[in-house]
Amino acid sequence: MPDTTANDRTRPDRLPEWAALGEHRAKLGETHLRDLFSADPERGGRYTLQVGDLHLDYSKHLATDETLRLLGDLAAAADVEGLRDAMFRGERINVTEDRAVLHTALRAPRDAVVEADGENVVPEVHEVLDKMSDFAERVRSGAWQGYFGGSITHVVNIGIGGSDLGPAMAYEALRPFAEPGDDGEHGIEVRFVSNVDGADMHETLRDLDPATTLFIVASKTFTTVETITNATSARAWLLSGTDGDVSAVARHFVAVSTNAEKVAEFGIDTENMFGFWDWVGGRYSLDSAIGLSLMVAIGPERFREMLEGFRLVDDHFRTAPIEANAPMLMGLLGIWYGAFHGAQSHAVLPYSQYLARFPDYLQQLDMESNGKSVDRAGRPVTYPTGPVVWGTPGTNGQHAYFQLLHQGTKLVPADLIGFARPVAGMSPELLAQHDLLMANMFAQGQALAFGKTGEEAAAEGVPPEQVPHRTFAGDRPTTTILASELTPSVLGQLIALYEHKVFVQGAVWNIDSFDQWGVELGKVLAKRIEPALTEGADVPGLDSSTAALVSRYRALNG
Ligand code: F6P
Repeated sequence: MPDTTANDRTRPDRLPEWAALGEHRAKLGETHLRDLFSADPERGGRYTLQVGDLHLDYSKHLATDETLRLLGDLAAAADVEGLRDAMFRGERINVTEDRAVLHTALRAPRDAVVEADGENVVPEVHEVLDKMSDFAERVRSGAWQGYFGGSITHVVNIGIGGSDLGPAMAYEALRPFAEPGDDGEHGIEVRFVSNVDGADMHETLRDLDPATTLFIVASKTFTTVETITNATSARAWLLSGTDGDVSAVARHFVAVSTNAEKVAEFGIDTENMFGFWDWVGGRYSLDSAIGLSLMVAIGPERFREMLEGFRLVDDHFRTAPIEANAPMLMGLLGIWYGAFHGAQSHAVLPYSQYLARFPDYLQQLDMESNGKSVDRAGRPVTYPTGPVVWGTPGTNGQHAYFQLLHQGTKLVPADLIGFARPVAGMSPELLAQHDLLMANMFAQGQALAFGKTGEEAAAEGVPPEQVPHRTFAGDRPTTTILASELTPSVLGQLIALYEHKVFVQGAVWNIDSFDQWGVELGKVLAKRIEPALTEGADVPGLDSSTAALVSRYRALNG
C-alpha cells in the first residue's frame, strides 16, 4: 500500500516544506540574477563560506535568503542531520546491504573512537596506514628489491571503479608532490590499468621492464572480472621472464582488498595484502589502502596531510548549522535545480589541469551513489534524483560545450574550481599564464550569471539582425570554489566536500546512496554472452538484436 501520510519525511515531495519551495519558485518567477545583485549590493560578499582552505562563493545561484531558508527547512524536515549523525556513529545506514558507512573513520585521528558493531575501528585503520607507510617508504627508498635484484621504478595499479578512479585522479592532482625529493628517495612513476580492453595493459606495459615494475592489485571484493583478468595477464607477463618461477610474484605483486581468501587464491601472499573493511564503499575508498599507489608516489607524510584535509571537512559537515554548512548548501541547491528548475545535469569545471580527472572521479561518486529510482523502502520515487555529472578542465571546455551552457535551452548548474597560485616548479613564463587562466574562470562565472542583454549588444553596434544571436540570457547558476593552492590537504577537503554533498542529496531523497545494484545486470549478461563469442556457444533466450550482433561479430572474426 502506498504511504500517504502527510509530513512523511521519507517522502520529501509530500512534505509541506517541499510544497513551500514549489510556491516560492512560482513567486520568484523570472527574477533574474541581475535583479538579485542589484537589489543587494552586499550579495557577493554575503553569500560566501570559508571551510578550511576552501572559499565558496554561492552568490551566483538562483536563490534568495528565503530560498536558502526554505531549503534549510527541507533538510531539517527530512532529518538530514539525523542520518548524518547515524552515519558518523557507525549505524547501518546502507540498508540494502545492511552495512555501516564509515569512510569518515578512515581519516579519524589515532586517538579517536569510532565504533562499528560495538568495536572501535580506529586502531585497525591506523595499523593499515602504518603498514602502508612502511611499504611505501621501502619502495620509495629502493629497499624493496624485485625478484631480479634492483629497486622498483614503476608501480602499476590494477583496479576499476573506486579501486582506480580515486588514486588515478589524486595521482594526477598531486603530481608536483610526486617529484623525487632531496632526501635520497627516487621518484616512482605510477600507471593505472582499469579497462578489460587488452589495449590498456598493452600500452601500459609496452615500455616497462618486469624487473623494475611492481603491481598493486586493488579490488575490494577481489572478484571483479576486469581486475582479475588484467592481474592474471600481468602475472603472465612477469613470469614469462622467470622460467616459470612463481616466487617472483611475491616481489612484484601486492594486493589491496577486503577478501584475504581470494587474494591468497590468486597467489599473492596475504603478508603483502593491505586490508580494508566492508563499511568502506568502493567510491569512498581513496583514503583507505586503495590509496596505496598514491602513497607510494607522494609519500606517507603527504598522504596523511590529505587525510587531514578530509577530516577538516568532516568536522565542518558534522558541526556547522545547515545554513552555514557547505555540503548542505551545495546538496540543497542541487535539489532546488533538479526538482524546481528541471535541471538534469551538473557540470564540474576545474580551472586546473591537475584536476583533469576530478569530474571522472565525481561521476562515480555522485552517479553510482544517487542514480536511483526507488527509495530506501523500495518504493518508486516521485521526484528527480541524482543529476548527470560531467565536466573537463577550463579553459578547454570553453572552446567546446560552453556555447550550450551560455545560449542553449538547458539549465546546467556548474561548479568552477580554481586556485590562487599554481604549484611551484614551473618556468616563470608558465607561472605567468596563471592569471590568464583564472581571469577566464572569473569571466565565465560572470558571463553565465549576468549575460548580455539585447540593448547592450545593440549599444555595442551589433547589427539589429544579429542581436538575437549575440545576446546572452545569463541567469545560469554557478558555485565558485577558490583555494590558495592545490595541496594534498586541499584535495582531501575538496573530495570530502563532494562526498558529503552527495550524502545530503541522498538523505533528502531518501535513497540508499551506498549500494549500486544497477551495475549488476550488465555483468551477469556479459558472463552469459562471452562463451558465444569465444566458443560459438548457444546463448538461449537472446533477443534478436543481440543475437544478430553476436553472429556478425563472429563472422567478422572469420
Ligand atoms: O561495478 C561497480 C563496482 O562494484 C564499484 O562500486 C566498485 O568501485 C568497482 O566495481 C570495483 O570493485 P572492486 O573494488 O570490488 O573490484
